[in-house]
Amino acid sequence: MTSLTLAFDVYGTLFDTRGVVDVLRSMVGDIAEDLVDTWRSKQLEYSFRRGVMNKYVDFAICTEQALQYTLLHHGVQMSVVEKRSLLDFYKKLPIYPDARACLSELKSTRHEVFAFSNGSERAVRDLIHSAGINQCFTGVVSVEGVRMFKPHISVYEHFNKSSYSEKSNTWLVSGNSFDVIGAADYGMKTVFVRRLKTNILDPWDISPTATVNSLEELPGVIEEQS
Ligand code: 2OP
Repeated sequence: MTSLTLAFDVYGTLFDTRGVVDVLRSMVGDIAEDLVDTWRSKQLEYSFRRGVMNKYVDFAICTEQALQYTLLHHGVQMSVVEKRSLLDFYKKLPIYPDARACLSELKSTRHEVFAFSNGSERAVRDLIHSAGINQCFTGVVSVEGVRMFKPHISVYEHFNKSSYSEKSNTWLVSGNSFDVIGAADYGMKTVFVRRLKTNILDPWDISPTATVNSLEELPGVIEEQS
C-alpha cells in the first residue's frame, strides 16, 4: 500500500463560496444569488488576469475588488460596514459536510493531506481553524510562495517542492475545473469533485483520473488506486 500525497483545493472544494448567500440576502434580498455568482466568477477572473499580467496580489484583494465590481455591476449600494462584514464572513465560509466526513476518514490513513490554495497561508489556516479541521492536515501550501495563481504550472511545481512530494504520487482534489485541468496537464493525478450536474469539466480533452459526486466517495477511490 502506497502513501499518497493529497492536495485539496480550498475555495469551492472544501469550503462553500456560496455559503455567503444568506448574509448577502439579508442585505440585498433575492438578487443575492446573482451577486454571489458574479462575485465568485469575477474573483477567479481577476486571479487569472493577474497571473497573465504577472501582477500578483493576495487573493483577498481579488476577492475584495471582485465584490466592488459586483456591487457596481448589479447597481447595489452597500455601506462600508456591510462590505466589511461580508469580507469578514468570507474568512469563515462554511465547510461542505462531505468534506468534513472525508477529511475525518483520511485521518486514520497513511496518506499525507494538504490544503492547497490560491488563498494566503494565513487565510487558509484561519478557515480550517474556524471549521475545527486543522488536525486533518499535514500542511498548508499557498500559491503566495510563488506569487502566481492556479492554474499556472509554477504553482503545481511549488506544491510538490513545498510538500516534498513527487507529481506521480500526488492527487489534486478539486471542484474547480480549471484547477483539475492545470494539475492534470502538469502531471498530477486528479479527482474532479462534481457535487452539482451544473459543474461542468471544461471540454479541453483532458480527463481527471476520477470524478466523484461527493467527497465521501474519495477515500474509496484513493484506496483502489494505492
Ligand atoms: C483555491 O485555490 C481555486 O479558489 C480556489 O482555493
